[in-house]
Amino acid sequence: MIRRIKGTYDILPEEAEKWQKIEDVMRKVANIFNFKEIRTPIFEASELFHRSVGESSDIVKKETYDFQDRGNRSNTLRPEGTAPIARAVIENKLYADPSQPQKLYYFGPMFRYERPQKGRQRQFHQFGAEIIGSASPLVDVEVINFAITYLKALGIKDVVVKVNSLGDKESKDNYTQVLKEYLSSKIDHLCQDCQRRQSENPLRVLDCKVDQMNPVIINAPKPIDYLSGSARYHFDHVIQGLEALDLDFEIDGNLVRGLDYYTHTVFEIQSQSDSMGSQSTIVGGGRYNHLIEELDGPDTPAVGFAFGAERLLLALENSNVLESKSEIHAYFISLDNIFTNGGLKIINDLRMSGVLVDYDFLNRSLKAQFKQADRLNARFYLIYGDKEAKAGMINIKDAQSGEQESVKIEEIYQYILKHLQGNGCSGGCGSCDGC
Ligand code: HAM
Repeated sequence: MIRRIKGTYDILPEEAEKWQKIEDVMRKVANIFNFKEIRTPIFEASELFHRSVGESSDIVKKETYDFQDRGNRSNTLRPEGTAPIARAVIENKLYADPSQPQKLYYFGPMFRYERPQKGRQRQFHQFGAEIIGSASPLVDVEVINFAITYLKALGIKDVVVKVNSLGDKESKDNYTQVLKEYLSSKIDHLCQDCQRRQSENPLRVLDCKVDQMNPVIINAPKPIDYLSGSARYHFDHVIQGLEALDLDFEIDGNLVRGLDYYTHTVFEIQSQSDSMGSQSTIVGGGRYNHLIEELDGPDTPAVGFAFGAERLLLALENSNVLESKSEIHAYFISLDNIFTNGGLKIINDLRMSGVLVDYDFLNRSLKAQFKQADRLNARFYLIYGDKEAKAGMINIKDAQSGEQESVKIEEIYQYILKHLQGNGCSGGCGSCDGC
């Protein structure tokens, strides 16, 4: 038997309904914040990620899915969405669009060769947003507020919002040098990974996953203490904006994030829910003022975030927010030959009017058809055979009240509509107030 690849999974229909809900809410929130959707390819030239996410980042060092195409070019399945969007902004000259800044959002699969565990897959999905073309701290506030609003709209509580600043390029470079020197004198007290990071990517030592209580890390110099005047001014305004919105957050001096392109604000939101396992970060983001320029575009400041959709679903696991009973309006119970007695046409006409109808494809007995209708939670049984066809009538039985009536074929739609409205249609008929 051929099995799915390690770190990937199938989203079966029941689970897919939950995905549709989180995607629906995502689009609604994006809409009220006036973000427009962008869709970029699943694979890109490998160089894009080397030059953006960074050669020294864990993602590029050991997690990308790279392959040579038949023209001997090196391609990479996208491990994240920001670099492809930066590429698309440059290639399609979105930076020159009169409407600035560009407010973009995306949703789709990403690929990282990581050790699979709860909340960490090799194919996972991100919902992300980017504001491209403004250096104002107001847009940092706008994206953080967008992320928090989405969580609230989903009913996700028990989260901690952490923010920090890495400063502008000069502050970050100065600080990195200070940190490198500090760590070099304490190298023996670091875990094996951090010993390597000390020279290659010292910032990452601060969010070492092996030992957060290591005094070397706790007492390390913090980026926030090395901000230039203008970087401090920027960060102070971000904080002011978040406070003006009454948002709960904390400043975490050790928050640095794992991608090389960040400058100034970085932030993460962690869920406190027991269902998360060790992967509690549901969203990560920050400013990347130099990425577009480094990819040969014009000097264009930007900021954004990405949610992990699987982690959102984990955070919602113990709540009933996504619970719903799947149901249909009607199940057509065929007594005779549906090919010749007009039954197929009746079903189709109802569907064209927005009624959710299903019927038997397995030549089931009458009893088994009723059973299948119940499995699908059908509100009405439409019972129809050659005799009914001759009389131009159909028998309708209401599964809720048990009442059965014989109704003219051309009046079935009105009948169903009237009864659904009377009991509050759960959506899907397309005609009542509830839809
Ligand atoms: P990231 O922190 O690498 O940032 O990923 C963002 C989120 O994606 C994480 O917080 C997590 O929820 C989810 N995630 C990452 N890797 C996995 C995985 N292997 N399995 C399941 N979920 C995962 C970025 O990707 C940046 N592009 C975010 C950003 C946008 N920064 C600015 N704009």
